[in-house]
Amino acid sequence: MIGLIGGSGLYGIPGFEVSERRRVETPYGLPSDDFLIGELSGRPVAFLPRHSSRHNIPPHKVNYRANIRGFRDLGAERVIAVSAVGGINSGLRPGEIVLLSQIIDFTKSRVNTFYDGDDVVHVDFTEPYCPELRESLVRASESVGISLRDSGTYVCVEGPRLETAAEIAFFSSMGADVVGMTGMPEAVLARESELCYAALAVVTNLAAGISPARLTTREVVETMNRSAGDVNALLTAAVGLIPPSRGCRCGEALKDAGM
Ligand code: HPA
Repeated sequence: MIGLIGGSGLYGIPGFEVSERRRVETPYGLPSDDFLIGELSGRPVAFLPRHSSRHNIPPHKVNYRANIRGFRDLGAERVIAVSAVGGINSGLRPGEIVLLSQIIDFTKSRVNTFYDGDDVVHVDFTEPYCPELRESLVRASESVGISLRDSGTYVCVEGPRLETAAEIAFFSSMGADVVGMTGMPEAVLARESELCYAALAVVTNLAAGISPARLTTREVVETMNRSAGDVNALLTAAVGLIPPSRGCRCGEALKDAGM
């Protein structure tokens, strides 16, 4: 099973043949929505809209643990996430798609681990995204001819407010390329669950202080809608290209992580 997480403006994929909607209860509560289960590119896929199909769960209120646990309970070993981001790197334009390679976490008040009990676990997170899934996405972009930046550093902010111009200048000086509100703790929870995880970031706007205009949610949603065709084509091709069994080390993330 391959998991897909849709971000703002991505609620379904043409060609995804849904055979079932499944409500999954987890020890952490309910995921954002029912999972849509079916077939894409001949592979079993489970799709979850991160903000629910009614888009009524803001980034700081997403139950990230329930979402990731839900995928694991469905038997998914890989998850590809899509999210909207603001562009910090001056080379990025709205509509561009970035295959993320690194994360900087500036969230403040989210439950960010499955290990908040008595177990002392420090999971390796040097490379936050699965190299094998990233490779499938790069090959997908080549095969469908859709341009994809093959690396980028994502800074995750708490939200829901947007950033100040000074914050963006600071993030830029740290080497961040894009800014968003949902990449963490999603990525680390996937790692703690020994799932492969990769993320496509769609640049929906230029970040605060870079854009000459005031930022609006409408701009984010409209750009995401315009990019949905490209994102869907990339996901469809990537799902078909993912190797049947895992050759990465994501499935051993907890080995040597405990005390
Ligand atoms: N900042 C934070 N999150 C975002 C942005 C932004 O500019 N655009 C889309 N998600």
